[in-house]
Amino acid sequence: MTAPTLEIHLSEDMMTEALRHDARVGLTADPKWLPPKWFYDARGSELFGQITTLPEYYPTRTERALLTAVAGEIAEAAAPEMLVELGSGSAEKTVLLLDAFVAHGGLDSYVPQDVSPSALEEAAAQINDRFPNVTVHGVVSDFTGTLHHLPRPKGRDGKRMIAFLGGTIGNMVPDERAEFLTGVREVLDPGEHLLLGAGLVVDPAVLVPAYDDAAGVTAEFNRNVLRVLNARLDADFEPEAFRHVAIWDPEQEWIEMRLEASRDMRVVVRGLDLTVDFAAGEQLRTEISAKFRIAGLEGELAHAGFAITRHWTDPDERFALVLATAK
Ligand code: SAH
Ligand code: AVI
Repeated sequence: MTAPTLEIHLSEDMMTEALRHDARVGLTADPKWLPPKWFYDARGSELFGQITTLPEYYPTRTERALLTAVAGEIAEAAAPEMLVELGSGSAEKTVLLLDAFVAHGGLDSYVPQDVSPSALEEAAAQINDRFPNVTVHGVVSDFTGTLHHLPRPKGRDGKRMIAFLGGTIGNMVPDERAEFLTGVREVLDPGEHLLLGAGLVVDPAVLVPAYDDAAGVTAEFNRNVLRVLNARLDADFEPEAFRHVAIWDPEQEWIEMRLEASRDMRVVVRGLDLTVDFAAGEQLRTEISAKFRIAGLEGELAHAGFAITRHWTDPDERFALVLATAK
């Protein structure tokens, strides 16, 4: 067994530069907003891990049950030599896929990719211990940029599967999604696969509590983005002075997470030489989490150049796994 390797396409300096750009654009916009990728420093990744175990947060356990049920069928249909996972996080559910691919035969390597080095290192080490015959090579990068740096299988005929699980596709707005899916299609050869996990449109009485849990973990996760700005950009946000808001937008069919200023506030972002004023009640958008209908999802995949091979949903139709083939 060899130790996992880590390839860094996003150094700490590059990350701070990207955050500087995003914070300047988002905090001077009206309404104010920030991209969700900045939740995930070590604490944010840890808080997301806690969210996945909350009774209200059904997506993770639903996708896990679905993977448990259908991983063998996915292995049968795709049989990849290399599994690349975008936004792999803890890769806790990925073990189910890896088990099935190893049992089916032919899996040679696993490439977890994430913007969070801490999550990546931990996941790579765990997978490496559990699957001694699978080469683990982590990549720190941003999946919203080009994906051409992702490795290819060594074997001439080896096929890749790109997995994008957890419903993270829903954290992109439609234009970003189209660009992302086209980018994924571009790096795949015809016949290679994308496995996409996506949350489906469900009753808002189920959805909203998943993003506004009784224990307040999601609220802490939401406020964490302000802590990231404080630490990386020398800002003086008071996270506790912002209220967590999660609302369902029935037209866009997405959950929107916001942070609402509890009073008038002036925030200084020293690293940007920027002063940002918040009026009492003003909201800063921190995330959307779009939910899908199967036909819409398949339409978006087809538009990006994929053929749909199979899809699976749980009995309550809360979550879907779609296996798409690059045309
Ligand atoms: N796939 C895991 C984790 C989902 S949480 C699961 O299903 O549970 C979302 C993950 O995507 C986090 O680990 C976060 O660090 C990562 N992420 C968010 N935005 C990203 C970006 N732009 N580029 C790369 N990784 C990103
Ligand atoms: C990572 N992503 C799919 C999560 C979601 O459900 O949109 C992030 C999250 N935000 C609040 N809770 C969980």
